[in-house]
Amino acid sequence: AEADIPVITIDGPTASGKGTLASSVAQRLGWHQLDSGLLYRATALAAQRQGVAADDEAGVARVASALNLRFDGEAVLLDGEDVATALRQEAVGSMASRISAHPAVRGALQALQLGFRRLPGLVCDGRDMGTVIFPGAPLKVFLTASPAMRAERRYKQLISKGIPATLADLRADLEARDERDRNRAVAPLKPADDALLLDNSGQTIDQSVDQVLDWWAQRQPFQ
Ligand code: DC
Repeated sequence: AEADIPVITIDGPTASGKGTLASSVAQRLGWHQLDSGLLYRATALAAQRQGVAADDEAGVARVASALNLRFDGEAVLLDGEDVATALRQEAVGSMASRISAHPAVRGALQALQLGFRRLPGLVCDGRDMGTVIFPGAPLKVFLTASPAMRAERRYKQLISKGIPATLADLRADLEARDERDRNRAVAPLKPADDALLLDNSGQTIDQSVDQVLDWWAQRQPFQ
């Protein structure tokens, strides 16, 4: 049964390192991974390309239900075209944050997200993985880091990919995005009641990964 497939949820604000942590944990456990933010980003990009405005809830929800997205290694194929780099752009992230406030859009992406739960297990990251999508997950982590630290990480990430960025703009953008993600009426960014808090400001990636794996080991035997 579904409930027998373990899930580890990692939620937290923009650029807290969720994606890196989730993929490392998934790799160490040999589990599947879901980057749920990517689904919102792909919906935003598809809507933009189809000329659907961010505030057109029904229109964006239609785009989300018809999303033609495939994953092939590092490639993310939207209607057959690799959009992995385009999806990382700040403008797409901002539009993703705006469209993700619409309940109909969140509803349209729910079944898609549940479908990632496959044996031997799933590590997923986002804003509402532990609160809404997988409320029964046996391990929920809420990741935080200071805004300054997050802006710096995002800066390095973009520059290393050859995407131009400035630190001050990134920080302003991520604080605005956090604000919107925390204050929306549906599925706001907040820790699940049973989430374990992890502040990785002073930690290396390996330390955070080991922490999550330790927590998971303490949950054994999983049933
Ligand atoms: O994690 P990210 O930056 O790729 O996410 C982009 C936006 O998508 C984020 O600002 C809010 C939205 N999002 C969401 O509402 N729920 C999720 N589970 C993941 C992302």
